[in-house]
Amino acid sequence: MGTNLLERTDFSDLPEPARGKVRDIFDLGDMLVLVTTDRISAYDSILPNGIPGKGIVLNRISEFWFNKTGDLIKNHLITTDVDDFPHEFHKYANELEGRSMLVKKTRPLEIECIVRGYLSGSGWNEYKDTGTVCGIKLTEGLLESSKLESPVFTPSTKAVEGDHDENISFETACGIIGEELAEKVRDISINIYNMARDYAIDKGIIIADTKFEFGIEEETGELILIDEVLTPDSSRFWPVEDYEAGRGQKSFDKQFVRDYLNSINWDRTPPAPELPADIVSKTKEKYESMIGYLLNV
Ligand SMILES: Nc1ncnc2c1ncn2[C@@H]1O[C@H](COP(=O)(O)OP(=O)(O)O)[C@@H](O)[C@H]1O
Ligand SMILES: [Mg+2]
Repeated sequence: MGTNLLERTDFSDLPEPARGKVRDIFDLGDMLVLVTTDRISAYDSILPNGIPGKGIVLNRISEFWFNKTGDLIKNHLITTDVDDFPHEFHKYANELEGRSMLVKKTRPLEIECIVRGYLSGSGWNEYKDTGTVCGIKLTEGLLESSKLESPVFTPSTKAVEGDHDENISFETACGIIGEELAEKVRDISINIYNMARDYAIDKGIIIADTKFEFGIEEETGELILIDEVLTPDSSRFWPVEDYEAGRGQKSFDKQFVRDYLNSINWDRTPPAPELPADIVSKTKEKYESMIGYLLNV
């Protein structure tokens, strides 16, 4: 596995990409080149230093799931082979290989499709107060990290830069994208989650929850799966062997980073502090062992 560090692309003769928290996005009109960098965020801030090879792990996991979900829904992936990218990208093959995808550009739906199989994060906070998650009434007596009887679809709005996503009810989601489409993405999201959860648990990983994005393909009007799929950046991954309801769980990948930031009492206001070398290398090992478990590589 190549683990050269790429914190941001700097391709001087290509148009400047849009930069998300983790990905650099080159807009080719009807297609995009998504480059997964080694940037890492914690507590909603991008940290000053990256984790070498993290982007490669994430890109590979997404590619794996795009292939595995192909019979449930079409997706945006065209190729991960840089030789098949438009020619102007070829001279950057060294940086791009293993961490980039050529995808169909879509009109993204204006909601994020979250599925929760376990009670954690904002879902747990809401349940503690009201017994509901995104307005859905759950059984009484659940604990933090409890497994839900059946997974729930808990959409959120897409926050504009710097803002936090906001959980919304299914009815509100229907108001934003229309009832028919909302029902469709709800059902597909739950089907994908169920399949992935069952796959991952056998590999020692609990996928507690995850976020999908869908878009409408311009030329066909078809609904397709976009963005990244079932990565540790878009999901909560917990190690099965440490799992116990009634408390928060250690994340499979970012735990060293979060523990370190807590140990120095960072108040979570940006800018985030630099990570020491041993935290970077331990986190790098975590990502590598995680993909080993998940994909048997
Ligand atoms: N096929 C696609 N068509 C259009 N937009 C897409 C597609 N796939 C992903 N995106 C968008 O590209 C961005 C990915 O970059 P990312 O680093 O994840 O950004 P963010 O910080 O917003 O999560 C997201 O805004 C996502 O909605
Ligand atoms: Mg994203």
